[in-house]
Amino acid sequence: MCGIVGYIGNKEALPILVKGLRRLEYRGYDSAGVAVAHGGNIKRVRAVGKIDNLADKLQSEKVPGTFGIAHTRWATHGGVTEENAHPHSDCTGKIIVAHNGIIENYRELQHNLLVGHTFVSKTDTEILAHLIEAFYQDSVKPANTPLPPSEGGMAATGDLRTAVEKALRKVRGTYGLVVMHQDHPDTLIAARLGSPLVIGVGDHEYFVASDTSPMLAYTQQVVFLDDGELAEITPNGFQIYNLHSQRVHKQSEQIDWNESEAEKNGLPHFMLKEIFDQPTVIKDALRGRLVEDDGTAHLGGLNMGEVEMRSVNRVILIACGTASYAAMVGKYAFERLAGIPTEVEVASEFRYRDPILDNHTLVFGISQSGETADTIAALREAKRKGAFVRGVVNVIGSTIARETDGGTYIHAGPEMAVASTKAYTNMIAVLVMYALQFGRLRRVTVATGERLVKAFREISVKMEQALQTSDKVKQIVEKYQGHKNFLFLGRGVNFPVALEGSLKLKEITYIHSEAYPGGEMKHGPIALLSPEFPVVAIMTKNQLYDKMRSNIEEIRARKAPIILIATEGDEAAKELADDVIYVPPTMELLEPIINTIPLQLFAYHMAVLLGKDVDRPRNLAKSVTVE
Ligand code: G6P
Repeated sequence: MCGIVGYIGNKEALPILVKGLRRLEYRGYDSAGVAVAHGGNIKRVRAVGKIDNLADKLQSEKVPGTFGIAHTRWATHGGVTEENAHPHSDCTGKIIVAHNGIIENYRELQHNLLVGHTFVSKTDTEILAHLIEAFYQDSVKPANTPLPPSEGGMAATGDLRTAVEKALRKVRGTYGLVVMHQDHPDTLIAARLGSPLVIGVGDHEYFVASDTSPMLAYTQQVVFLDDGELAEITPNGFQIYNLHSQRVHKQSEQIDWNESEAEKNGLPHFMLKEIFDQPTVIKDALRGRLVEDDGTAHLGGLNMGEVEMRSVNRVILIACGTASYAAMVGKYAFERLAGIPTEVEVASEFRYRDPILDNHTLVFGISQSGETADTIAALREAKRKGAFVRGVVNVIGSTIARETDGGTYIHAGPEMAVASTKAYTNMIAVLVMYALQFGRLRRVTVATGERLVKAFREISVKMEQALQTSDKVKQIVEKYQGHKNFLFLGRGVNFPVALEGSLKLKEITYIHSEAYPGGEMKHGPIALLSPEFPVVAIMTKNQLYDKMRSNIEEIRARKAPIILIATEGDEAAKELADDVIYVPPTMELLEPIINTIPLQLFAYHMAVLLGKDVDRPRNLAKSVTVE
């Protein structure tokens, strides 16, 4: 949550910063701001609302300069006002900071250390600017305690890096932080603890951002900061330190994402583009990982030998949101193919239990961003307790990717819409491949393995076919647009599909919806049903088809409208339902990859029809980096 961009180099900073903020808008969009240094001054412009509001305000302002920082906010402490928008400044207006994270002890610091400083916002972040101010002042005039506010401007003789370092040693909480000082127009300080920061390495220019997307147009050479690291960046290079002024030596890495992947490519919304990306990016998830001859998959990043793999007697899949629904499909796959008892845990619950884990437990953290705070904390807990901990992650170099002892990138490419789509289908593909890999060491025959590998090979084409339902789905949406409630039903592997369809609808249309396993409907939700309460049910041809069909009959008897996702050629579906969306058949474990597509489109078309902000739904952020 919250996005940070910084630039120092030889180009005009403002266009780079604003474009960068647009890339990061998925991380928060309740207010935004920039600060750019020029001619011995820093100009700061902030606006409430989306980046467009800031861009409009900037049209009437001249903001030259080749050095600056910017921020897009998802409010935690302090309401959504211009005073609370970042970047924040110290008493003198010379020190400017943009921050992602939470400073937990800000009140304590304010009352104990910063008496006399004038605070103008209600944020926890502003404390950082004043703390740095105090230590900077201290570095100009040593041994000045308690830490005073500056009096009438500061000399440029202070030590900015050390001041930031000392300030950070006082704070408790999390931060991705960029700092600039008017009197040091050639120095940008960046620091990280718990909130991601990446340095982009250009030709005499450097970028800092919460993820790589703002820098992809300029460079693919990046350095990921680790927790407890602080970078001092100038147009001529950068140096990384720990918080005890010791140098840390890191190599830059080449990333293979490119700018065009983070563009809408002429489509009206990122979400639509990403839904339609799915048949392409799933090939990236599968590439080089299926072994035809042995009817298996090989995910090299697992970093476990066969003996260790055979020693696993329990799998725990930890995730939040959409990733947790992909994990539920993973549970079916692990149990069916590998015969390993598998649990799905929502990360925020797992981390505060006292989970029973041992060195026969394999824990996967599943996360698009690799930065979800609860998932990271849960994985740290699992590691502490001695489990094997692996990641299934999209964002290259993200915290989960770096902290786990192995795992797999899902290769969905940059996902910009807040509502996750292509990451979800690629997560399922990777989890089913893992289940196959474990299954082939246990009970899956080569023939079954080969059938699954073949089904994987055909999946992209079938996803294309599922996308062709888009016009039909749109017509159905037009018919049901006035409804205030929906019930989603599925059984077996299609229960997570129902959950995901319901979540997508809630997230981007704000329509109330519930999701239940078909067999559970009789135990409560059936009481809700009426002609005003439509049901969206997945009734594809699998081992639970007849059971699901009976559930649909029960709904029909209550006169609720029925929209069915059914397998091509299933004429009976037409008899049962008011509307049918046909999808191609595939092996049962891969059905969620196909069957979710019309539900993504259902939510998308509904949101467009209702005039909602599809890519930036209210109150949500794509990457939840706070608890
Ligand atoms: C947020 C997003 C969801 C996402 C969830 C988990 O709630 O809005 O779309 O599924 O976080 O994110 P992760 O990056 O860990 O997959």
